[in-house]
Amino acid sequence: MKFPFLRTSILILCLAFCLPVLAQRNLIELQKDWKFAKGEIPTAAETNFNDSNWQDVRIPHDWAISENFIKDGDGSTGKLQWKGQGWYRKKLDIAPSFKDKRVYLIFDGVMAFPEVYINGKLAGKWDYGYNSFYVDITDHLNFNGENFLAVHADTRKHDSRWYPGAGMYRKVQMLVTNPVHVDIWGTYVTTPVIKKDSASIRISNKIINTTEKADSVKIYQSILNPEGNEVSKDSVTRFIAAGGESFLEINTKVSKPQLWDVNQPNLYKTITKVFVGGKQTDEKETTFGIRTIKFTADDGFHLNGKRVQLKGVNLHHGHGPLGGAFYPRAAERQLEIMQSLGVNAIRNSHNVAAPELLELCDKMGILFFNEIFDKYDAKAGIVDTTNFEDFAHRNIKNFVLRDRNHPSVFMWSVGNEIGDVQWNQNNGFQRLHTMLNYVNKYDPTRPTTLVNDQLKSAELRHFDLYDVHSWNYGRRYRIARKLEPNKAVVISESASTLSTRGFYEFPLPEKKTDFTKSLQVSSYDLNAPDWAEIADDDFMWQQQEPYIAGEFVWTGFDYLGEPTPYTNKEVTEMGMTDLEASRSSYFGIVDLVGIPKDRYYLYKSYWKPDETTVHILPHWNWEGREGETTPVFVYTNGDCAELFINGKSFGKKCKKLDSETSTDRFRLMWKDVTYEPGEVKAVAYKDGKKIGENNIKTAGKTSKISLTADRTSIKADGKDLSYILVEAFDKDGNPSPLADNELKIEVSGAGHLAGAGNGDPQSFEPFQNNKVNLFYGKAMIIVGSDFEKGKLKLSVKPENIQKESITINVE
Ligand code: GAL
Repeated sequence: MKFPFLRTSILILCLAFCLPVLAQRNLIELQKDWKFAKGEIPTAAETNFNDSNWQDVRIPHDWAISENFIKDGDGSTGKLQWKGQGWYRKKLDIAPSFKDKRVYLIFDGVMAFPEVYINGKLAGKWDYGYNSFYVDITDHLNFNGENFLAVHADTRKHDSRWYPGAGMYRKVQMLVTNPVHVDIWGTYVTTPVIKKDSASIRISNKIINTTEKADSVKIYQSILNPEGNEVSKDSVTRFIAAGGESFLEINTKVSKPQLWDVNQPNLYKTITKVFVGGKQTDEKETTFGIRTIKFTADDGFHLNGKRVQLKGVNLHHGHGPLGGAFYPRAAERQLEIMQSLGVNAIRNSHNVAAPELLELCDKMGILFFNEIFDKYDAKAGIVDTTNFEDFAHRNIKNFVLRDRNHPSVFMWSVGNEIGDVQWNQNNGFQRLHTMLNYVNKYDPTRPTTLVNDQLKSAELRHFDLYDVHSWNYGRRYRIARKLEPNKAVVISESASTLSTRGFYEFPLPEKKTDFTKSLQVSSYDLNAPDWAEIADDDFMWQQQEPYIAGEFVWTGFDYLGEPTPYTNKEVTEMGMTDLEASRSSYFGIVDLVGIPKDRYYLYKSYWKPDETTVHILPHWNWEGREGETTPVFVYTNGDCAELFINGKSFGKKCKKLDSETSTDRFRLMWKDVTYEPGEVKAVAYKDGKKIGENNIKTAGKTSKISLTADRTSIKADGKDLSYILVEAFDKDGNPSPLADNELKIEVSGAGHLAGAGNGDPQSFEPFQNNKVNLFYGKAMIIVGSDFEKGKLKLSVKPENIQKESITINVE
């Protein structure tokens, strides 16, 4: 035979690429059968500890979210009882065959300071509640008997500026591999050169050999295009020492790359197969995208060579009535709502996100501003005894290794508003340098930034250390930009406009900081804290300074905690007590449960100019205000609109595109309307042509409710959700904007009540209590699946009104 090796290599290649080989690694989500208890329990980690009277829980779990609010508690962190210790216990299923394997536990986030015990012994711990980490538990396992896992979570030393949640709030997985395998987060895909005809792809795999034998290790690497067809295959071999590790790298090409973009988020996959002595030991799949990103000094941000204005929002990690507990569907819905108003970018203020959030952004075409720390003066898990260098290294390492293959990630931020870093106190610039270097060590392909608020600190030129000027509020970016005009600018926090959904106050505020003792903020969208501004200001600044790459609104959703302007301190200054302080924020474009505020339509009208928006505010139920001045605003993508009250025209108004008063550019305002009950109608025009109209009517007595589910079938996977919007109407079907009826909730069949809320920052009804009040005519009920298939029935009985029901299929 002339080429025997050819045949053999074709055979091996075929073994690697042609046959469906059984997965060589086993990734098991540890979702069910956990026991939980709160408090100090000294022997809780021990194998024979009796946990039979502990609570049965499922992961994700936030131990504080279902509890009663502490009425005079600290509103800044949500008035919930998140401080304390908690224990989780679970029996692990370890097969005798695992004896020859490596067994890891991967935690996506435990709040806070988790300690992981196996069979009574400490196997590992972590010191930052938001980060992912893993523990190699192999050497602690008992392969011929029972194994117990216990996790201690302790929030006593954790501090926060919002509600952080408590406990095992993100998923936990057990990974079982052969001794020679790709390291966790060990695959790194980069795309050094991207041209129309072809893209070069570099794939590096960190391979670990935990055996006592040095061996030749071969990896086969294939790439699948978005349609699932193989478009590249390659292999590389290297000798790896006993107990050693090595990076095996492949440089290949993909022709006619289908780029990842916000409009078309094309995703490729690469599969790494590891062979030792002809036998496959591992197989791992990694998703990636091919795209170019670039910040330009004068033309903003470019994706694939084209300018994309960043229309971003900040999102904290919490999910309203679900608390810190991370449910993929809650995140997906959050992103869907944000995309529906034109959002194309997210900043995960201010901590490592759940990994699924990045996967969703990849899939949905949303750019991701990836941030690791908030101002850490005792807020981010850094306590007095923390060695900063080590802390920064281990946390940045996990953060970057975990997230660096996501095409959505376009920038790394090492922190938000860290005061001493901006001012170079306590060796601040050295620490900044340390953090940036670690980011660059693990991923040099993306720009870096620090998010700033200390205006004058720019004069110290901390920006020389990172790539992009990121500044929060009030055109603070201007000093830095003047000193260094060769760097792009991002408004990392814009607006901070404040409002309560459905609530209006008269007269209109004279100043943005005019707040009353109502404990709610008027929804005319003219209020903001003194350090911040209204939405229109940021729109105008970006028009006036077109070099600005874009903005990230504070915030997309309301969140628990930080209830400015009604924090404990603020209400006390207004002559009230802690009891009056609110428990959730007023910043959101949508409320705590995702119901749009008026502002939603203001953003949509500007960010989605091609979609018709004609939104009228306020509502038109003002009994007692007859004859009084009641301003009417219209948010529209049109350039003009005519307003009618009960058929009588109040004139046509047009946006004043050059006005120095930002609101005149982006809204249409009739400030002198006198109230009379009836109908308000707006007809909108663009370039002289009618584009649409809308009307609202004074509603009569509330006489019915409707239930609308965002999804009527969900998966029986114990974590899927359906969000059911409850709305009140009068007998003619007009929305009742003032309805506040109490709703009794009943859930039966294949699922459970996951939470209920209404967006009222002053509501102290626990989130999982089978009742909620309508708030300005609306409320949200969230139901979740268990593991059985069937029908889930939700019945809602409002006081004095007929009960309504809805059925969700659990499949
Ligand atoms: C910023 C801060 C945010 C939030 C916001 C409220 O300064 O970075 O976390 O507190 O203010 O306006």
